[in-house]
Amino acid sequence: MGRVAVVTGGTRGIGEAICQRLKRQGHTVIANYAGNEEKAKAFTAATGIPAYRWDVGDHEATLAGCAQVEADHGPIDIVINNAGITRDGTLHRMTFEDWNEVLRINLGGCFNMAKATFPGMRERGWGRIVNIGSINGQAGQYGQVNYAAAKSGIHGFTKALAQEGAKFGVTVNAIAPGYIDTDMVAAVPAPVLEKIIAKIPVGRLGHAEEIARGVAFLTSENGGFVTGSTMSINGGQHMY
Ligand code: CAA
Repeated sequence: MGRVAVVTGGTRGIGEAICQRLKRQGHTVIANYAGNEEKAKAFTAATGIPAYRWDVGDHEATLAGCAQVEADHGPIDIVINNAGITRDGTLHRMTFEDWNEVLRINLGGCFNMAKATFPGMRERGWGRIVNIGSINGQAGQYGQVNYAAAKSGIHGFTKALAQEGAKFGVTVNAIAPGYIDTDMVAAVPAPVLEKIIAKIPVGRLGHAEEIARGVAFLTSENGGFVTGSTMSINGGQHMY
């Protein structure tokens, strides 16, 4: 059955692959994006998937954005909290703004999206929320106290909200990707990235589509008994 699905940070990288996969599953997919207008236009032109602009770290903007999506397409039954940024740097160099922006967007975005959509899912008795966490939220990572804290927070948020949604048919799960061949990972300095890849047992970076396949399962009818879980998709880099 086709449902309305919103994918935050949906016009690039992992989010783009998730949008395309959910569309192929027969859903009405809406991509959210924050700033890259040019890429969003190209994405919509190539895929036919509408893109709505708001900052998921902004509470009021997120409520308004989701209300607009619902007015245009109907109730949102599936949310993929994928939007995220990095501001890497060791603690002694990291500014308060680097800390705050990553927490505000990566973790605050999950709260804001849930506030906008979870009450409706609960009332209708069906919903799927998938939060994109990270291997670095599970294991930590040098130079990422902000990102690791936000992603680790996402894993806790997932388990707490899953308990609230369970009796209303709303599942809440997380996926913890490892290093995936996106722009975000390409921004890691080459010598550092080479060392990271050398530690991945499968011997390569992951592909965005490999995360999207996990999302497809967790959002499907078949995934109804899976809630509060974290699916690690990381080539064996961290066995958790
Ligand atoms: N453990 C221990 N020491 C480390 C280390 C590690 N993992 N990484 C670097 N160091 C050491 C270096 O060897 C170096 O030591 P020496 O001075 O003695 O040689 C020192 O720390 C400084 O390293 P850099 O030269 O790299 O320092 P920098 O200040 O230029 O950069 C950094 C620091 C920005 C954190 C950089 O190391 C970096 O970008 N690291 C990658 C961080 C990372 O993995 N980010 C993931 C982004 S993708 C993502 O987050 C998606 C996802 O979910 C997986």
